[in-house]
Amino acid sequence: MSDHFTTIRLAGAKSLVLGQSKTFPLPDSEDQGFVICTPVGLRAFRNRCRHWPAPLDMDDGEFWNQEVGLIQCKIHGALFRADDGLCIFGPCSGHPLLGFPLEVDGEDVLVTVESER
Ligand code: FES
Repeated sequence: MSDHFTTIRLAGAKSLVLGQSKTFPLPDSEDQGFVICTPVGLRAFRNRCRHWPAPLDMDDGEFWNQEVGLIQCKIHGALFRADDGLCIFGPCSGHPLLGFPLEVDGEDVLVTVESER
């Protein structure tokens, strides 16, 4: 794998239950990433909306709207599909969150992120 990629190990993240998430710092960035357990499995995204440079969770680590079963921006109420991060309602409609590939390793989750440098 290229030097531009970093693998981040999130200990115990395999045991997240539906709607639970875990944030993590991204290398070379002020942004965070998050792993979330969704009905279609674990997914990882950058914690930043595509229409405004803000974290979706207002820094409380909660991303899931249980009523509709979608990821939510707490600032504007925008809703994102769990599977691919596509915004289907709100000011960033039609734009997806930046997703990261992940794999499960025992009880941990490994997320591969691309360095910004
Ligand atoms: S910051 Fe884009 S929908 Fe809230």
